[in-house]
Amino acid sequence: MKNQTSSLMPIIKTEIPGPLGREIIKRDAKFASPSLIKEYALVADRGQGCFIDDVDGNRFLDMMAGIAVSSTGYAHPHVTGAVKEAIDRVWHICGTDFYTESYARLMEKLGSYVPQMGNKKVFLANTGTEAIEGAMKLARYHTKRKGFMSFYGGFHGRTLGALSLTASKVKYRDNFGPFIPGVVHGRFPNPSECPDGMSTEEFGLKAIDDIKTTIFDRVMAPSELAAIFVEPIQGEGGYITPPRSFLKGLRYLCDQHGILLVFDEIQSGVGRTGHMFAAEYFDVAPDIITSAKGLGSGMPIGAILAKESVMTWGRGTHGSTFGGNNVSCAAAVATLEVVEKMLPDIRDNGAYLTQCLKNLAAVHPIIADVRGPGFMIGMELKDPKTGLPVPELMGELEQLAFRKGLLLLGCGQSTIRFAPPLVCGRHEIDIATKILANCLSELNH
Ligand SMILES: Cc1ncc(COP(=O)(O)O)c(C=O)c1O
Repeated sequence: MKNQTSSLMPIIKTEIPGPLGREIIKRDAKFASPSLIKEYALVADRGQGCFIDDVDGNRFLDMMAGIAVSSTGYAHPHVTGAVKEAIDRVWHICGTDFYTESYARLMEKLGSYVPQMGNKKVFLANTGTEAIEGAMKLARYHTKRKGFMSFYGGFHGRTLGALSLTASKVKYRDNFGPFIPGVVHGRFPNPSECPDGMSTEEFGLKAIDDIKTTIFDRVMAPSELAAIFVEPIQGEGGYITPPRSFLKGLRYLCDQHGILLVFDEIQSGVGRTGHMFAAEYFDVAPDIITSAKGLGSGMPIGAILAKESVMTWGRGTHGSTFGGNNVSCAAAVATLEVVEKMLPDIRDNGAYLTQCLKNLAAVHPIIADVRGPGFMIGMELKDPKTGLPVPELMGELEQLAFRKGLLLLGCGQSTIRFAPPLVCGRHEIDIATKILANCLSELNH
């Protein structure tokens, strides 16, 4: 299914935000929880493909997909049609206690991916963090162990269990402890920190050795660990792709010690890497995968996929009132149908976007690195003189781009994540590159 909107262009016709947008922002500010970030003043009104119109009629090209969520773009006819049909039939019956065809169909689809995992069972939730909580419970239930390991830079959600695993920014944790006991964090091998003279694959293996010598020998015996949670590509932490040897090494460690390996694919899954799940991209079979974000193209849905031999919890041990509601399941099935057909395009167009960004890096030394498969691309900014991250310039670039009709979003310390709707084609990439080039020339660096 090809992108239907390939002739649209960004249009800026008012000051940004415009008068209607300013009014809504004012009303919002009066009641909104102060914890919300509100990255910039986008007041979305409607969307089509990779483009979002604000309430003042300005049109923006979206290179962040509402934080890697709007996988099929806005108002994809196949997904919208499926949602409308489900709304007309039944919204809710509670998948924990009863059945719908869409729930069964979604599980069949999810069960068919990552064949390396063998037969699977599926639990449907509403959000990423709920999928993580469920995976933590499942790991404890199945292994009868209590401990968990995750990685510095990792983001797994904001509820207390998931937050105990999260270690990307201290503001997410500050004042919210104590966290659940028995969580240890290891170093995630960022290839940009690989010492001279060492290959990145050796660097990945060194990170595995470090787990043995710093954690297993000193902090927590592996026999205490129920599961190791890892994002196969760190998202919030900076779009960092580890060496394959690291993920393979984790698989080996887990096999050696009876630990479950959980891939948090809430950001990297559903086609983002050009493969349905990053587990397929790396050819490493975890025991459990968590999914959410892009799964429903924006309808709230999360999932736990586990090896059948691992999802052993008994009747009534875990459930969710809204998890897998009929409308979200219909959106997810339709999303997967679209994404399944687009995987080669995502790989091609992702490579094209990467090349365009690398071309920009050749003339703008502030771009220190462009990395990542498919449409999970990080463009890291660093001060070329000091080699240090430049968070303020990243913020400035986001704002500049926004005012020119391009939606960008940062991650890590100063990395711009390119996570557009997966329907993004060359037309959109060329526009994004052009606007970005203008912004970089204007940027105060
Ligand atoms: C890798 C990863 N895990 C978990 C989450 C939490 O998902 P949610 O915000 O749906 O709870 C996120 C959200 O950014 C994520 O990127």
